[in-house]
Amino acid sequence: MTLKGARERWVRTGGVELCVAELGDPGRPTVVLVHGYPDSKEVWSEVAARLAGRFHVVLYDVRGHGRSTAPRPLRGGFTLAKLTDDFLAVVDAVSPDRPVHLVGHDWGSVQSWEFVTVGRTEGRIASFTSISGPSLDHFGHWINARVKRPTPRRVGQLLGQGAKSWYVYLLHTPALPELAWRGPLGTYWPKILERAERVPGGDYPTASLPTDAAHGAWLYRDNVRARLRRPRPDAYAHAPVQLITPQEDAFLSERLYDDLDRWAPRLTRRTLPAGHWVPRTRPDQVAAWIEQFATSAEGGRPAPRPTGRHADRFAGQLVLVTGAGSGIGRATAFAFAEAGARVIAVDRDAEAAARTAEQSRLAGAPDAWAEPADVSDEQAMEKLAEKVHDEHGVLDVLVNNAGIGLSGSFFATTTDDWRKVLDVNLWGVIHGCRLFGARMAERDQGGHIVNVASAAAYQPSRVLPAYSTSKAAVLMLSECLRAELAAQGIGVTAVCPGFVNTSITSTARFAGVDEEEQRRRQQRTARLYGLRNYPPEKVADAILDAVADNRAVAPVTPEARGARLLYRFAPGLLRRIARVEPRL
Ligand SMILES: NC(=O)c1ccc[n+]([C@@H]2O[C@H](COP(=O)([O-])OP(=O)(O)OC[C@H]3O[C@@H](n4cnc5c(N)ncnc54)[C@H](O)[C@@H]3O)[C@@H](O)[C@H]2O)c1
Repeated sequence: MTLKGARERWVRTGGVELCVAELGDPGRPTVVLVHGYPDSKEVWSEVAARLAGRFHVVLYDVRGHGRSTAPRPLRGGFTLAKLTDDFLAVVDAVSPDRPVHLVGHDWGSVQSWEFVTVGRTEGRIASFTSISGPSLDHFGHWINARVKRPTPRRVGQLLGQGAKSWYVYLLHTPALPELAWRGPLGTYWPKILERAERVPGGDYPTASLPTDAAHGAWLYRDNVRARLRRPRPDAYAHAPVQLITPQEDAFLSERLYDDLDRWAPRLTRRTLPAGHWVPRTRPDQVAAWIEQFATSAEGGRPAPRPTGRHADRFAGQLVLVTGAGSGIGRATAFAFAEAGARVIAVDRDAEAAARTAEQSRLAGAPDAWAEPADVSDEQAMEKLAEKVHDEHGVLDVLVNNAGIGLSGSFFATTTDDWRKVLDVNLWGVIHGCRLFGARMAERDQGGHIVNVASAAAYQPSRVLPAYSTSKAAVLMLSECLRAELAAQGIGVTAVCPGFVNTSITSTARFAGVDEEEQRRRQQRTARLYGLRNYPPEKVADAILDAVADNRAVAPVTPEARGARLLYRFAPGLLRRIARVEPRL
C-alpha cells in the first residue's frame, strides 16, 4: 500500500509539520483526501491512484500520524479547531486560488464535517464527500432528540449505536489504549482488518501504527465528550455534500444519518454493501462516486439525482441484463437505468436490445448500451464478456434473465426440445456466471448476480418437465454460487416469478403438437396470462429490492410466494396439485 509516484512536501502549522503527498496535474481541480483512525494517508492509495488521471490529488498525514509530527503536549493538541488550522494550511499550500473537493473517511470525515460547517473555510471547499464519520455536532443533536422524545424505535436506535460505540468508551480511558496498541493490538491489527473487514493485507504500514494509534486516542479525548454534550446549533454545511454509507459498518449505524438533510440541504446519498474500510475494499466505486460528484460540482451543476428505486445504491453502477429486449428483462433494464445505473442491454434480438437502450437514454439514462448475443452460444458470450470488460469494465450487477418457455409432457418432449431449453435457460446462466462472475470475483470488490429462475423451480408440474427442470437447476446453481462467492462479498439471488404478463406466452413452444395446435395453445396461454395481468415492472422492482437486500431466493407474485410456502411446509399438497393440473 504505497503512494506510487507521489510528490511530497512539508507544511508547517501550529507547531507541527504535516507530510503532504500530491499526485496528478496541479492545474486540475484539487481533491483532498483525509484519513481516519488509526490509519495514515496511505489508506487512500488505491482511491488516489484512480483519481490521479482526472484530478490533482492531495493527501496528508493528520498531525501525530504517519510522518507528520505530533503536537506537544498531546492533551489539547488535537482539537477540531487545530485540525481545521491544519486543513487550511494544507489547502493554502496546494490550492491557494481554487476551492478544493474534500473527502474524509472515519475520523477524516468527522474532522471534515467541522471544516465544512465553520465560517472560516467558506469559499475554500467546493464539495465534501463523507464516508463513515459523522459530524460530532449532528451526532450530539441526534442523541438529544432521542433522549428528549424517546419512542421505542428511537430508544432502539440509541442502544444500537451505543453498542457499536464500545471502542469510543475504551479510547477515553487513560493509558489503556496506548498499552493495547503498543502490545498485541498493534502487531495483529493488519490481520484483524483482513479477517474482520476483508481489508487486503500486504504492505499495510505497521511501523508507525502503535504511535499513530496512541496519538489518535487524543482525537477522541479532546473532542467527543465536549461536542456531544454541547453540539453547535448552527453546524450547517456550506458546500454540497455526498454521503457514502457502508451498510455493514461495524462502528456506525445507518440511522445516524436520518436527519442529515436538515444540516446539509444539498445532500446526495450513496450506500454500499460493505464494511467500514471502503477506501481499501471498494476503491473503484468510491473513486467513481468522488469523481462524479466533484465533476458535477466543478460544472456548477447539481449532482445527478436519479429518482428510481434504490438510486442511492445503484447510481453509477455497471449493470448487464440478458434478455433485455422484452418483458422482465426490458423492465429490469429500465428500472436500473432509472436508478442511475449504466446499463448494458443484451438480447439475441439485436433490434429489441437497441430499442431498450434507446428508450433508457430517452428516459434520462445517458449510459445505456445494447449488445446482441445469444446466451446459449458459449463463443458469442466469451466475445461479449471480452468486449464489455474492455469497453466498460467489471460488472457490478449481472442479471441472467434470458429464457424460453417449453410446455408438454415428458414423453412428448424430444431430446432436441430438451437441448434447446437447457441451452438457453441453464447454459445461458452458466455462461453468464462463469464469464462475468469470474471477473467480479477476481476484482474482489463485491458485486451481485441475479439469476431469473421461476416458481416452476420448486413447483412440480406434469406439463412443464423440461422448463421446470431447467429452472430448478438455476435455483440450485444460484444457491451453490452464493455459498462460494459470499467470502468475496458477491451476492447471488435466484428470482422466482409466478405468472407474469410478457410475450413469453406467444413464443413458448408446446411439444408434441402440430403448428395449428401450437398457435391455439399459445393464444390461450397469452389470454390466461393477460387475465392474470401481473406486470413485468413489478418483477423488476422485486429484482432491485432483492439485490439491495442481498436475498438468496426472491419469489415474486402471490402464487409464487404461496407455492414456496407449500414447498417448504406442505410438499405433499404441491405434489397432488401437480397431478391434477390442467394441460395448457
Ligand atoms: N413471464 C413469466 O410468467 C415468467 C415466469 C417465471 C419466470 N420467467 C422467466 O423470466 C425470464 C424472462 O422472461 P419474460 O417473461 O420476460 O419473456 P420474454 O419472452 O418477454 O423475454 C425474453 C427475452 O429473452 C430473449 N432471449 C430468448 N432467448 C435468448 C437467448 N438465447 N439469448 C439472448 N436472448 C434471448 C428474447 O429475445 C426476449 O427478448 C425467463 O428466464 C423466463 O423463464 C418468466
